[in-house]
Amino acid sequence: VGLNVAARAADKLYFGTATDNSELNDTQYFALLDDIRLFGQLTPRKGMKWLETEPERGVFTFAQGDQIAELARRSGKVLRGHNCVWYNSLPTWVTNTTWTAPELTEVVQEHCFNIVKHWQGQIWDVINEPFNDDGTWRETLWYNTLNTTYIPLALHAARQADPHAKLYINEYNITGTGAKATSMKKLVRDLKRAGVPLDGVGVQAHEIVGEVPSDIQRNLEEFVALGVEVAITELDVRFFTLPPTEAGLEQQRKDYETIVGACAAVEKCVGVTVWDFTDKYSWIPGTFPGSGDACPWDENLKEKPAYYGIVDGF
Ligand code: XIL
Repeated sequence: VGLNVAARAADKLYFGTATDNSELNDTQYFALLDDIRLFGQLTPRKGMKWLETEPERGVFTFAQGDQIAELARRSGKVLRGHNCVWYNSLPTWVTNTTWTAPELTEVVQEHCFNIVKHWQGQIWDVINEPFNDDGTWRETLWYNTLNTTYIPLALHAARQADPHAKLYINEYNITGTGAKATSMKKLVRDLKRAGVPLDGVGVQAHEIVGEVPSDIQRNLEEFVALGVEVAITELDVRFFTLPPTEAGLEQQRKDYETIVGACAAVEKCVGVTVWDFTDKYSWIPGTFPGSGDACPWDENLKEKPAYYGIVDGF
C-alpha cells in the first residue's frame, strides 16, 4: 500500500516528503517522488529559504522554489512553504549588517510578505527553530535585535500576504513533552491570546532509533488543546551504529510506527512529512557525522522495514 494512500485512508491530509532541486534529475528517485500514491505533499529542502529567495535585499529569486511548487501543482500535491524566518541559510547582507530594530523589522516584513505572497494558498513554516533545547529562546540575529517581537511580526506579514495560508511555527525536539515543548506551548498560548495569526505547530521529529519519546500523542494533544493544528514536518529516525543490524532495522520500523501512529490518533494532526525519503539523499550523515540510514527507503531506493512501520502507523 502507498504511504499517501494509507494516510488518506486514516483521514489525514497527506503523507509527504521534502525534496531538493538537485535530486530531480535522478529518474528512479523522481518516479517515486512523483507518485501520488506514495506522496501527497512536498516541502522544498532548500529552495524557499532566505539565501535562495532573497540573496540581495529586495531581489527575490523564486526559480528553485517554483520548480518544486510546479511539481506539486501538476500532480495535485499539497505544498508546504519552508521557511520565512530561521537563523540558518541566511545571505550575508542579512548577517553582516548591524541592524537597528526598526530596520530589521522592515527586513523581516518584506521577506515574509514577498515569499508567502508568491507561494499562496498553502501551508507555511513562518518561524523555524526559535528555541534552544532547554526551552530558552535561541539567541539568533532576530532575537538579539528584536527580542520575541520578530515572531508576531513575521506571522502578521505572512497573514497579510495570504489570508488563506496555514501559518506554522516549526521546531525540533518537541516530539515528546519536556522543557522545549513546554516553551512552545507557552508561546502558542501567548500568541493566541494576543490575537496573532497562528494555525499550527510543526513537529520536526528528527529522531534517533530506540530513543523515540513515549508520550508523543499526549504532547500533540496538548498542542491541539491550545487551538492549533499540528503536523509531523521533517521525520527521520537515525542510527548511530552503522551499518544497522536486522534488529536495528526492526527497531526503526517500530519507531516510525510509533510516531506516525501518534499523529494518526490525533484528529488535528494533519499529516506526516519525511525529510527526504531515501538514504541516498538524506541530510543526516552530513550534519551528524557517523550517523545515518534514517529514511524509509535505502540508498538503492528500496523500501526498508521502516516503510511498513509507516503503513502500520496509519
Ligand atoms: C536542511 C536541509 O536538509 C539541507 O539540505 C540543508 O543544507 C540545510 O537544511 N531543520 C530544518 C530544515 O528545518 O530546514 C533543515 O534542512 C534540517 C533541520
